[in-house]
Amino acid sequence: MSVMRTKTVEQAIQETEEPEHQLKKDLSGLDLTVFGVGVIIGTGIFVLTGEAAQESAGPAVAISFVLAAIACGLAGLCYAEFASTVPVAGSAYTFSYVGIGELVAWIIGWDLILELLIGAATVSVGWSQYLSVLLETIGWELPTSIANAEDGVFNLPAAVIVLILTAVLVTGIRISSRLNAIIVTIKLAVVLFVIVAGLFFVKASNYTPFIPPTKPAEGESGLSATLIQTIFGSGPASFGVSGILAAAALVFFAYIGFDVVATAAEETKKPQRDVPRGILGSLLLCTLLYVAVSLVVVGMQKYSELDPKAPLATAFRDVGHPLFADIITVGALAGLTTVIMVLMLGQSRVAFAMSRDGLLPKKIGAVHPKFGTPYRITIIVGVIVAILAGLLPLSALAEMVNIGTLFAFTLVSISTLVLRRTRPDLDRAFRVKALPVVAGLAVVFCVVLMLFLEVATWLRFLAWMALGFAIYLGYGKRHSRLARNERQKIDA
Ligand code: ALA
Repeated sequence: MSVMRTKTVEQAIQETEEPEHQLKKDLSGLDLTVFGVGVIIGTGIFVLTGEAAQESAGPAVAISFVLAAIACGLAGLCYAEFASTVPVAGSAYTFSYVGIGELVAWIIGWDLILELLIGAATVSVGWSQYLSVLLETIGWELPTSIANAEDGVFNLPAAVIVLILTAVLVTGIRISSRLNAIIVTIKLAVVLFVIVAGLFFVKASNYTPFIPPTKPAEGESGLSATLIQTIFGSGPASFGVSGILAAAALVFFAYIGFDVVATAAEETKKPQRDVPRGILGSLLLCTLLYVAVSLVVVGMQKYSELDPKAPLATAFRDVGHPLFADIITVGALAGLTTVIMVLMLGQSRVAFAMSRDGLLPKKIGAVHPKFGTPYRITIIVGVIVAILAGLLPLSALAEMVNIGTLFAFTLVSISTLVLRRTRPDLDRAFRVKALPVVAGLAVVFCVVLMLFLEVATWLRFLAWMALGFAIYLGYGKRHSRLARNERQKIDA
């Protein structure tokens, strides 16, 4: 079964030492945590908190954040063990190539492309919305036709920010990680500001009812029901316990990207130590911040009155502090910038690993002689993200990103178990205790969250996967490095 062929771990590590495929190894655990926090805190907390509270969970959105974090934490532990065993670029994609086989690796790689590419485009659109809020404050306004794709033609600010960040990434990871560190600090300061300043405006009455009772969602079509509602024939509904789960499936987006830390494993000084630290450290920090921010925001304003576009800033404006709202807007803008950049960095690294393996054309994986970055892929990714960000509205994209990621997490958790069984001999700098329980729970959490995503999202996801299969069968299956090795062996 050629689609089940695997790479050995030794082969995967050795390939990274070939000169034409070598990335610089100069990142530390702290750099990785900065990258992690840089990508995790973004549109999820700054934007989706409002929609999740208003439409699905009410004040209990804080519980949704905890549930999504548990799913990520469980999958994150599996990720950390896998990353510490196979410290090679490409994240879950590479791990599964080693753990399970080429077809599953391709599926995961294809999922990661969905996560990172559509994720970056989504966040750039959010960035341009914050920019327009800022421009309004200083009395400027862009013509509608180039300000956004919903009422106009093209979202120019979103496309421009993507292209600027692409240039930064091409010139080298060191510059971008320094820039990242500064912006991450600003972003963290703004999030802490929301928590501390917001506490003064919290009203206990806004917390009741903490879990609003279930009610049917009006004016929604069958496609906007969650898959589980469709399976049980109940039709679209919100709030109640299932509302908390549906909100968890949406705010899961707020955690997207902690796995990107693992995609940079090859560029760390000591992957066995730095990667688990980077993944788990950034996840824990973000969860604490999200729970605090969401509790403060739903305490400041009735959940039904939250603004779904810029809830954190608007909450302050509505309690009579427009200056605070402006500070938060600027911080959000800076924060979203790093999110876009790190998502694109992760995307170019996954595509780089796939081209090194011959599943995507080899030429596009070339490393720049001076900068040491996979420049061709970075530029291709940048142009595609800029086009998507310019043309697509934000809505529904987050769910699309979530479904791909949850599916990839499920496969990674299973792969970790498989690798323990097939290669018990390998060094594991980071070992998960009671792995079967952890991996099993990770799968359960991820699958449950997927069931609480909309039917429309499932249909789009199935279409994306079908396209992926077609590309694999039409190109990757014949051109992969492993396929060529097999042919050489037969000829010899
Ligand atoms: N987790 C990132 C965000 O919330 C992608 O924007």
